Amino acid sequence: MPNFKTLDDLGEITGKVALVRVDLNLPMLGGSATDVTRVEAAKPTVLELCERGAKVLLLAHFGRPKGQRHSTMSTSFVQGDVEEVFGKEIMFIPEVTGPVVEQSIGILGNGDIGLLDNVRFWPGEEANDPEFAKGIAAYGDFYINDAFSAAHRAHATTEGLAHILPAYAGRAMERELAALDAALGNPEQPVAAVVGGAKVSSKLAVLENLVGKVQHLIIGGGMANTFLAARGVDVGKSLCEHDLTATANAIMDKADHAGCTVHLPYDVTVAKEFAANPSSVRTCNVHEVADDEMILDVGPQAVEALGDVLKTCRTLVWNGPMGAFEMEPFDSATVALARIAAALTQDGSLISVAGGGDTVAALNHAGVADDFTYISTAGGAFLEWMEGKELPGVAALRV
Ligand code: 3PG
Repeated sequence: MPNFKTLDDLGEITGKVALVRVDLNLPMLGGSATDVTRVEAAKPTVLELCERGAKVLLLAHFGRPKGQRHSTMSTSFVQGDVEEVFGKEIMFIPEVTGPVVEQSIGILGNGDIGLLDNVRFWPGEEANDPEFAKGIAAYGDFYINDAFSAAHRAHATTEGLAHILPAYAGRAMERELAALDAALGNPEQPVAAVVGGAKVSSKLAVLENLVGKVQHLIIGGGMANTFLAARGVDVGKSLCEHDLTATANAIMDKADHAGCTVHLPYDVTVAKEFAANPSSVRTCNVHEVADDEMILDVGPQAVEALGDVLKTCRTLVWNGPMGAFEMEPFDSATVALARIAAALTQDGSLISVAGGGDTVAALNHAGVADDFTYISTAGGAFLEWMEGKELPGVAALRV
């Protein structure tokens, strides 16, 4: 695990200005956030700094405005959500540098919070322009990165600032790195990985990294079809990347050499159309899929066998659903396997870490998100970590 400074290493900070990078890139509907998990994650760091008397300036991006002001992407849109979660009023500052920022800092009292506008309104952010970073750094006494979910971006406020100001990992960053280290960095063996989702092509690097690290690789979702087809199974009209047959075979060979067992379903749930509870739905052996059927979920016997695999493991890392979980009954395998993993975690026999886009939605749908050891708030950053990449925002915090 990288060696980094934390809030415990800060001395006296009363009256000092803390530049705190948080991730406020929240999913929105009708002007308010539909999920404030990322704000809740940042709360302990921000409130601790306030209690210790610092003036906190929040740095965040919101959407992808590509270096220009965009009326729908101001961080002011999430100000209300942040105030509600923090239980505190926040001053919105519509700039990131200049006299407005300077005057606002003068108005903020010790323990107050200011929210700067979307850092991506300025091209220097994504370009990681040192001059842009220096301009922001001029207002702060120290920098804290509490946005693991943006740490795969080498941007001015996720990476550059750490080289200019004394840099610290926030509490959420600390927890995230400790959990990820327990899952793949230095895990208790044996380790199982569940990798699902639609396409192999979007997770090639993840699979290639995992086969060298885990003892059991459980492949589900549409991507399992590509592996089944590579093994000579006729997958009918299932989603399948036939052009990746050689790649899938190479991954299975690499797994063989590394002593990693690749688990593909041997029974599946199929239907003639992708719709909720279609009349054509049935469960069959993978060798019995008809030409006009598509595989939409892993079957119940395979789930039972996978549950037995998890019972032999100490650590589980999970990314991606096992089937087309948005539509019943194709959520069955994801829900059943998630519940087995959750029960093993609650019994104390499994350390379970999950993350990435659809995964959190799938585990929430199964009603078990709270029963996993750790659920990451990150999407892209979680995937890059699963690929074995060093994240620039994390690397920059290293001492
Ligand atoms: C996310 O939502 O995953 C992070 O905030 C990163 O956003 P980005 O993909 O626009 O860099």
